[in-house]
Amino acid sequence: MTARLIMKLRVEQAHLSTPDVLRLQLVHPNRPTLPAWTAGAHVDLRMPDGRVRQYSLCGDPADTSRYEIAVKREAVSRGGSTWIHDNLREGCEAHISAPRNNLPLQETGERYVLVAGGIGITPLLPMARTLKRWGKDFIVHDCARSEAQAPLLAELAEVCGDRLQCWFSSSGARFDPTMIGAYHPNTHVYVCGPQRLLDAVQAFLGDWPEEQVHGEVFQTTLDENFKPEPFEAKIASTGQSFLVPADRSLLDVLRENGFIMPASCEMGLCGSCECGYRDGAVLHRDKALPTAKRQDRLMLCVSRARVSVTLDL
Ligand code: FES
Repeated sequence: MTARLIMKLRVEQAHLSTPDVLRLQLVHPNRPTLPAWTAGAHVDLRMPDGRVRQYSLCGDPADTSRYEIAVKREAVSRGGSTWIHDNLREGCEAHISAPRNNLPLQETGERYVLVAGGIGITPLLPMARTLKRWGKDFIVHDCARSEAQAPLLAELAEVCGDRLQCWFSSSGARFDPTMIGAYHPNTHVYVCGPQRLLDAVQAFLGDWPEEQVHGEVFQTTLDENFKPEPFEAKIASTGQSFLVPADRSLLDVLRENGFIMPASCEMGLCGSCECGYRDGAVLHRDKALPTAKRQDRLMLCVSRARVSVTLDL
């Protein structure tokens, strides 16, 4: 992963969009414009202890005077969302990377179906704005527990008008992927939200060409039933050996012992903490490594081992 320029931006506004979603507006303290971005882009937010979290830009791509992100306070937080909610106030400095787009909006389609679950609406709101500007045919399906818990809803309704369909489970309305409709070569589907939503949409779309189906996961994909066990991590170059307790990751233990390891998502999604290993029964648990690489590569943030593993460090 290449290093990214980090800018020191000022929090111009911070307010709750829903009881657990904090919306932040970020501006440069002395420049009128920020690097341009397109719908689907995200920025890295770096915390004082070096942790990095990625957030989709949810504002208007045509407005380069500010970046806007929305951060959900996660019930099971790895510390990032809690730190942001507790510390980023108006006037604070926030360390933010230039935007990068891993989920670009394809311009060539004729019809677009956007499906969001909860905080997954963040990259889709700028997409809806852009599609409206392009004069495209689109519809947004927004899934949340209730109207009060649907992030960015007022703005989404303003942008989409009658192209917005809301599905609030508390009132018994649930999104059904059959609403996406039949396959058409000029239809693109974008889905962002929990893994179960992506899985349901993927299951319905079946063998649609992958160039027409675009997705992003907004929460950990780890198996909640997995019971971590302690194991030993050996360092091939030095012979050191460390115990990785059940409640710590390989990444945690290496950092605690002075290793400087790159990492970003810490959920097994981005691939930035990839590391080689020489032996050991590795339990991979990530969504980043292709099967062909699993024989000798692992992700330090989520991979574990039975008994022991020797790392190529
Ligand atoms: S930090 Fe992203 S996969 Fe490990």
